[in-house]
Amino acid sequence: MRIFLDTANIDQIKQAAKLGIISGVTTNPTLLSKENTADYESVVKTICSIVSGSVSAEVLAEDAEGMIKEGRIKASWAPNVAVKIPATAAGIEATSTLSKENIKVNMTLCFSLNQALLGALAGATYVSAFVGRLDDAGHDGMQLIKDIVEVFAHYQLPTQVIAASIRHPLHCVAAAKAGAHIATVPYSVLMQMINHPLTDVGISRFLADWRRVSSPEKGK
Ligand code: G3P
Repeated sequence: MRIFLDTANIDQIKQAAKLGIISGVTTNPTLLSKENTADYESVVKTICSIVSGSVSAEVLAEDAEGMIKEGRIKASWAPNVAVKIPATAAGIEATSTLSKENIKVNMTLCFSLNQALLGALAGATYVSAFVGRLDDAGHDGMQLIKDIVEVFAHYQLPTQVIAASIRHPLHCVAAAKAGAHIATVPYSVLMQMINHPLTDVGISRFLADWRRVSSPEKGK
């Protein structure tokens, strides 16, 4: 499973990129608003200068014609931009048109297997299933990931499944076990994936033991 970063925060993206394990970035209007900017183009172009993998930028239009127009513009910002389009009838129509023009689409706000299947049939490169928001609504978000992965594999559909709306490290573990191609994670969750108290304790003990033999005075 590959990891995308789910943020529009440039400092976080720079920090995460240094780790060498980030394959892409996903953004949405809420994430842009958290950075207090409406200059989507400038933010996406900056992200694309840091990350060579896929960078998702979401359309704001709600009708197919508007989504197609906006999708073409956003896709022109950088070669690695994927256009994020919501799983509505207008979104499916826009995805069909844009994917025929070889524009990569990330079908977002998928909350059902049917939405994901239709997104794949429309030619989406990715479908983003919102695990956390389904959990919030009392459903089993990860079961949706399992179902989509199983059906796409059964029909050999090339669309990649993104586990989105990831809230904690256990979501990442479950997404990997469910066969998600990608998990898009907030920076805080990425750090939680790395950190383990026993690793910290282990390092302290190793260093304390080493100090005892290498410089006995300091070890006292
Ligand atoms: O990738 C989608 C993500 O940004 C939504 O997350 O936490 O707002 O449900 P959340």
